[in-house]
Amino acid sequence: MKRTILITGGAGFIGSHVVKRFVRKYSSYLIVNGDKLTYAGNLENLTDIEKEKNYKFEKTDIIEKQAVLDLFEKYDFDAVIHLAAESHVDRSITDPDAFVFTNIIGTVNLLNASLNKWKNDFERKLFYHISTDEVYGSLGKEGQFTEKTSYDPKSPYSASKASSDHMVRAYSHTFGLPAIISNCSNNYGPNQFPEKLIPLAINNIKNNKPIPVYGKGENIRDWIYVEDHASAIDLIFHGGKIGETYNIGGNNEWKNLDLILLLCRIMDKKLNRAAGTSEKLITYVKDRPGHDLRYAIDSSKLQTELGWSPIPEFAQGLEKTVDWYLANTKWLERIISGDYSKYYDKMYSGR
Ligand code: NAD
Ligand code: DAU
Repeated sequence: MKRTILITGGAGFIGSHVVKRFVRKYSSYLIVNGDKLTYAGNLENLTDIEKEKNYKFEKTDIIEKQAVLDLFEKYDFDAVIHLAAESHVDRSITDPDAFVFTNIIGTVNLLNASLNKWKNDFERKLFYHISTDEVYGSLGKEGQFTEKTSYDPKSPYSASKASSDHMVRAYSHTFGLPAIISNCSNNYGPNQFPEKLIPLAINNIKNNKPIPVYGKGENIRDWIYVEDHASAIDLIFHGGKIGETYNIGGNNEWKNLDLILLLCRIMDKKLNRAAGTSEKLITYVKDRPGHDLRYAIDSSKLQTELGWSPIPEFAQGLEKTVDWYLANTKWLERIISGDYSKYYDKMYSGR
């Protein structure tokens, strides 16, 4: 079956895994990656598939209404998988505005463009919005987030994602736009920008630099391997029910400090360092303001209805991730030096 799908944020961490999966698996689909290439967008994540016939890159800022409308004129999209976002909680504390512009206004621009094109025929159209478990707020020691948990976002990032979720539901309810939302827990794996906990810690351990642990390291996150998130997105895109929400999680809760200790053990082994060397780098730093204590996702709806389950056991997934970062030091060095941002000019200038 032929389809033309806009994947926004496809040069980012999760987006690049979703783009690669769809381009490789569905040769009859045209996958258009619409990405602004902010600091988090890296086309070097996509070198494996960039020459495939069913892949196109379009440098697009979703904040720019006209640019989004133009993109919808250029291609006859029948679906959108919307991942483009400002995604880092710490940045949302220092610069909330960017989160309002991209995550809320950018999403509304995409909703308007989709509605404008599809309003006379919603048949076989889909707006699939990728969101986060952080919209549900913070848990105490017990319980898990279900699809029915009330929204209670606490950071500018999660508030902006919650707003975008509400807008997607409002367009679905009011205008009949066919939409699905999924809310996922913390992803880890290859190609994650080294500002997030796991790649930051891997990079610092490798370079013998302090590993910053916020507060006492007692906050808990539910970690999922990025390929498992991509496989859930694939299943939901093809089999999810219009108007529904699906929670995606690894059923894999870790206290930050325990996770760092596990990572230190893996790194000591991989770098042939004496046991206990890396954990000496752990440095407790000032806590993140408003730091959510615990996230945990109940993904039983996705497992029961669509037969999804996460694959690697955490230590195995973490080891795979460490292996990737150690084998791709050039990728990391080019991010740290900023050279990755020149790749677009080299590959796409003159278009
Ligand atoms: P990321 O920061 O790695 O990538 C975001 C991508 O969006 C980048 O390629 C960036 O260039 C692009 N982008 C940003 N602003 C844009 C704009 N104005 N116009 C067009 N493109 C723009 O993010 P990620 O971690 O891959 O997250 C992807 C999505 O998944 C986000 O919507 C995020 O909220 C959601 N999510 C992430 C996680 C996680 O653990 N990383 C978990 C659940 C949900
Ligand atoms: O839950 C899903 C969310 O997970 C996504 O929606 C976000 O886009 C993604 O960034 C992630 O948010 P977190 O804030 O949980 O991820 P981060 O990697 O920034 O931090 C993980 C935990 O580690 C958190 O409790 C803060 C802590 N931390 C983080 C960093 C960067 C540290 O202790 N030290 C650090 O240096």
